[in-house]
This record gives sequence, structure tokens and C-alpha cells, in this order.
Amino acid sequence: MFRDAIVAMAPYVPGEQPKPGERLIKLNTNENPYPPSPRVRAAIIKAIEGDKLRLYPRPMADEFIEAASQYYRFPKEMILAGNGSDELLAMLFRAALDPGDPVAYPVPTYSLYDTLASVENARIVAIQMSRDFAFPAAELARAAARLTIVCNPNSPTGTAVSSAALADLARRLMPRLLAIDEAYVDFADRHSLALVRKHPNVLVLRTLSKSYSLAGMRLGLCFAQPPIIEQLLKVKDSYNLNRVSQAAGAAALRHSQWAERNANRIRRTRRDTSQALRAIGFEVPPSSANFVLARLAGHDLSELAAQLRREGILVRYFATPLLYDCLRISIGKPAEMKLLLRHLKRLVPPILASSNGKAPT
Ligand SMILES: Cc1ncc(COP(=O)(O)O)c(C=O)c1O
Repeated sequence: MFRDAIVAMAPYVPGEQPKPGERLIKLNTNENPYPPSPRVRAAIIKAIEGDKLRLYPRPMADEFIEAASQYYRFPKEMILAGNGSDELLAMLFRAALDPGDPVAYPVPTYSLYDTLASVENARIVAIQMSRDFAFPAAELARAAARLTIVCNPNSPTGTAVSSAALADLARRLMPRLLAIDEAYVDFADRHSLALVRKHPNVLVLRTLSKSYSLAGMRLGLCFAQPPIIEQLLKVKDSYNLNRVSQAAGAAALRHSQWAERNANRIRRTRRDTSQALRAIGFEVPPSSANFVLARLAGHDLSELAAQLRREGILVRYFATPLLYDCLRISIGKPAEMKLLLRHLKRLVPPILASSNGKAPT
């Protein structure tokens, strides 16, 4: 009944979301622990007043794009809004890849890229990062794939690469596309938006799910030169953003100081959490995101994740050979991290005292 590629592929598995009424500390899907600006709530209420929902929304999300254009100082023709940056990624894969075309990215990274590649029956060129997660620039350039994606800062490692390295990669890949997924960039020290102006093959993707605390609203942005935007528009759903999210997104961007303050709080908690995790015995690569990757080299941490789950704390465990000895821990409020660390201080010493686990195959 369905395409061979769809029947053969594994579905994307999102992180666990608690059931209604279930009280869990959520450190597994990199949501922001702080609420969005109160101005977002006011804008949502205004957007549903009277009979406004009777009408279709603006197909190009004008108010949201206008707010993005003002805040990021980019012309509107270079910005495209998505129902989350996941939708923009899906549009990109659909528009850029024919069956069998190579799509390259460093791994481990955001596993949705695998799913989207499988849907298009594209050929995945996974460039394995070294154990210290150094950026495999030369390998990516050599792969010369039709589409290259760099998640920066990367998930789940938290590590970041410089704009200069990405600019160099863009030059070497030209005229092939380079998409830079900056979902977590508001927690980093630098971003690569400027590359979009200089490089006609570069796209930068942003989301309001993380720094703007709007994961539930589904708001993403794509920045690229007009010829790229023009092609992506051909595969866009006509009304991809509903009226409520368009209004929420515009209000959030007009009150960006709110998100900036929360991002700074998260950075401070990230610094303290990283130090505390290292003191317990974890290796923690320096993170530029709102999560950290914590590794106990050689020890399978699936049981530790399950133990934390039983204590009411969700963290992300990936059962893959590269990540079986790691937990990805989102940065929550200081009190949530304190509770997590208290459990880890008790649960980790027996793991360290045990013989080495085995990587799953
Ligand atoms: C690297 C990366 N890109 C994109 C997304 C998707 O963001 P959105 O909620 O805007 O679809 C995520 C979400 O976790 C992510 O980790």
C-alpha cells in the first residue's frame, strides 16, 4: 500500500512526554524550564477574539516575519516561517533531494535527519565524529553531498564550531547546499546568520522552541537568499502556521529581552551543572546549548536512565554504539538540577565500581 522507502524505514522516536497529570522533572527534550513572555499569552488571546478563527491565516505569516525581520535585521524576502524548524527541515529535504542523492552530516546528531533522509530515499553520508566530537570539516567537504547539514551547537553533544569553519565549508561546498541548524544557538556565544548574506548556498534554521520557551507553539525560521526561499516555498503547505502561532511568534520576538534573560539563567545553571557532573565522575564536553552530554566511558547507562525515571526524572538515553555510555541532560531550574545531582551522587559510584559495560551493536 505504501512506498517501499516508507515501509522499510524506522520511525522517528521523540523523547517521552508525560501523560496528563503525571508529575515528572523533564530533562529529556531540551525544553526551556521558564515560561514564555506574558506578552505571548496576551497576543494569543487577541488572536482568537471574535470570529477570527473562522478565517484562514496569512499564508506567509506576515506579522511573524515582520517581527523576525526587525529583530534579526534581515530583509523579509530572506526569511521563511515554519511550523517548528522540523517542518522547515522536512521542506528542505523534500525540495533538495531526489531518491539516491547524498545528504551528509556529522554524527551523532539530531536523529530526525535520518528520518527525513529515509522518507526521501536519499543516501545518508554519516561522517562519524571522533570521541572528542571535533568538527569533521575536511570529510564533509570531501563528501560533497547535494545537501550538507551541520547542527551548531550540535545535539546531543552540545559542542559548537566556529563561523569561520562553517564559512570555509560553505565555500568548498558551493554550489551545493549547506544548512546550519541553529536550534540551540541562543545559548551559545556566537551564531552564523551573517553567512547567509555572503554565501548563496547557505541556509540557517532557527526555532522558538528552546530559547523562547515556545516548543508547544511550533515556530521555526529559515534564513537564506531569495533563490533558495523561492524553491522551498514550492513545497510549503499553504497555511503552514496557524493564526495563534503567528501572533505568538511575533509577540515573542518583539519581547526578545525576556528570552535573552532566561537564556542567561540557563547558561549559569549549565556551568554549575557541568562542574557538579564532572565532580561525580562524568566526562562533560563544554556545552553551548541548553543541555549537557554526560559520559561514563565504557558503562552502559540505560539502567541509570531507568533508575532516574523511577525517581521521577526524565533524561535522554540513546541506545547507539556512539552514545550508549552517555546521558543527555536538559538544563532545568537550579532546584531541578540539584535533585538530579543528589540522585546521581548515590547512583553513579556503584556504576564506576563495576566492570566495564559493552557497547550495543
Ligand atoms: C537540532 C534540532 N533542530 C531542530 C529541532 C526542532 O525544533 P522545532 O521544535 O522548532 O521543530 C530540534 C528539537 O529538538 C533540534 O534538537
